Amino acid sequence: MSQKHGIALIGFGRMARISHFRHILCHPKLDLKYVVEKDTAMASNFVKQYRDDIVVVPPSDLQTVLEDKSVDATFICTPTDAHEEYIKASLNAGKAVFCEKPLTTDEASTQTCYAEAKKKGLLLFCGFNRRFDPSINSLHRRIQEGEIEQIKNIRTIVRDKTLQPKEYLKTSGGIFADSVVHEFDLAGWFIGGLPSVVYAQGHAWFEEVRELDDVDQALVVMKYPSGAIVTIDACREAKYGVDHRMEIHGSNGVCLQQEGGYPTSVVSLGDNGELRENRYADYYALWKDSFEAQVEHFVDALEGTIL
Ligand SMILES: NC(=O)c1ccc[n+]([C@@H]2O[C@H](COP(=O)([O-])OP(=O)(O)OC[C@H]3O[C@@H](n4cnc5c(N)ncnc54)[C@H](O)[C@@H]3O)[C@@H](O)[C@H]2O)c1
Repeated sequence: MSQKHGIALIGFGRMARISHFRHILCHPKLDLKYVVEKDTAMASNFVKQYRDDIVVVPPSDLQTVLEDKSVDATFICTPTDAHEEYIKASLNAGKAVFCEKPLTTDEASTQTCYAEAKKKGLLLFCGFNRRFDPSINSLHRRIQEGEIEQIKNIRTIVRDKTLQPKEYLKTSGGIFADSVVHEFDLAGWFIGGLPSVVYAQGHAWFEEVRELDDVDQALVVMKYPSGAIVTIDACREAKYGVDHRMEIHGSNGVCLQQEGGYPTSVVSLGDNGELRENRYADYYALWKDSFEAQVEHFVDALEGTIL
């Protein structure tokens, strides 16, 4: 298909501005037509720096956007608690959907959204970007090719540098649905299927997190029917920077993903010991290749070149 796919970007906060907006604009097969955002002044000012033909509208104008036949797909980047409504409205209007993770915050509504997409024969893609990270992708390929044979255990560490604002935490669904969900997705992707036993512990070190009845430090242990055991160590704030590490131990060796998180690979050795630059301060810097690659994958899926 040589024609471009018309896109409406819904929700124009941090994620949309630092990631999806630029990847959509740069993609030769995508044409950003609308931005739907509560704060239209903020969105218009930002969008105008790049293009003056993108129409910025408030949520009350959603139907006009969805009735526009030149829009083929929506990118939903609103707070998580608004995803379901926009997914259903988009599917009802015959549009394919790219939705930021998590699709919704509970299993029943997530299943309903996928069932609706299936019934309508439309693409519903959830933005689990980490699958598209070059290192994680390589780990997955190696496991699939049998390099370490049977997975016996997976250990992951996932830490953000800075606690998200309370406004974000409130609508996020909590640390498990919002943050650990990436690791749940990866564990299932590597091992296949669902765990048969799940155990979790957590603690709220921050007052604002405690007030939301959430936790900011968590440990999850999951056992899969194959016997594989997964442990996830997740933390909303780590002073030293964004950190993601993964170790997969199999019956014939171990695969490690351990050196992500630094802007360069330069190390200096001297009287002060081993010095390197500070780790990345934000998740986008760590995962930017994966954000771009997942948009590429979405376009391939839109065009039917992959399943
Ligand atoms: N893949 C990742 O690693 C990753 C990272 C961060 C956030 N996210 C996901 O992205 C989504 C957005 O997160 P964010 O950090 O950009 O949040 P944010 O709060 O910065 O942005 C949300 C934007 O949506 C707007 N908005 C609120 N309600 C709306 C509505 N009903 N209609 C239209 N616009 C509305 C807000 O004004 C704001 O501009 C969340 O679902 C989050 O889980 C994913």
